[in-house]
Amino acid sequence: MRRMIIDTDTAADDSFALLVGLLHPEAQLEAITIVSGNVDFDQQIQNALITVDAAGRGGEVPVHIGARVPMTRPWYAAQAHGDGKGNHDFPVPAQKASAERAADALVRIVDENPGQIDIVAIGPLTNIATAVLLDREFASKVRQLWVMGGCDNSVGNVSAAAEYNFFVDPEAADIVFRAGFDVTVVTWTLTLARALWDRDQLAEIAALGTPLSEFFTILDTPNLEFNEGVSILGSTHPDSLTAMLLVRPDLIRASSRKFVAIEHTSELTRGYSLFDDRPERNEPNATVIDDVDADGFYRAYLELLSGRR
Ligand code: BDR
Ligand code: CA
Repeated sequence: MRRMIIDTDTAADDSFALLVGLLHPEAQLEAITIVSGNVDFDQQIQNALITVDAAGRGGEVPVHIGARVPMTRPWYAAQAHGDGKGNHDFPVPAQKASAERAADALVRIVDENPGQIDIVAIGPLTNIATAVLLDREFASKVRQLWVMGGCDNSVGNVSAAAEYNFFVDPEAADIVFRAGFDVTVVTWTLTLARALWDRDQLAEIAALGTPLSEFFTILDTPNLEFNEGVSILGSTHPDSLTAMLLVRPDLIRASSRKFVAIEHTSELTRGYSLFDDRPERNEPNATVIDDVDADGFYRAYLELLSGRR
């Protein structure tokens, strides 16, 4: 059983990652923290609450409001997710956001449970960096930090240099990768290779005919359409892969220790992630997931959506 907090800019695949935390038998989701990213901030709060409801867990997992903007830069919306809930009208959730702020909740929960809480960070790293600034021991008290972000010396999705989460708040990413976490990185590079579900797979999910598969299809459709417009033939699942690997480490086929650093001074390469695998030059500070069982991940997610927990 992994006790976790999911830090999310909730839209589409972020919601699918929340479903892993909310429904997988090996996950105990302690809290959800919201960070500025994919879509309008208040919409992200609603999307998280809607997802908690969709999982049948309304009122059971607190949702904490975090940073409404990156550390030093204006909000930068992703283009890939519509309003993050499939542009669909869901019933208004009874649960409301918690009064406790995200960074305070992160610091408190981790402090009360040193060495026991994993954090799954699937948005820009603003909230995590804020927690580091609030509590200088924060990184050492977190069990493991799993980050979705960056490209393994490959092209990005916002710019040639950068992946979205690191691009949006490179200052925060810089703080986090220098903070001393036991950190594991799931990249955009890996996502394209192993977490891209084509129309046949999406049809198989829809054919499950469960409330969860219907929820999935509604939220996923804008991403599928966006991706096809940029010649990516399927919907992409970086965030749900990250959450799933925490509870299904058997899906990891290869990983490596590397030095990871984030560019935050250049505009041309803003958010570029350096992945250096020369340990004699730069001491590794992160574990990078190099390969996963793609079909095993897809099957595990299918099982989750089948409603047979
Ligand atoms: C990341 O950016 C967001 O759009 C997704 O939710 C994911 O976390 C991929 O670059
Ligand atoms: Ca995300």
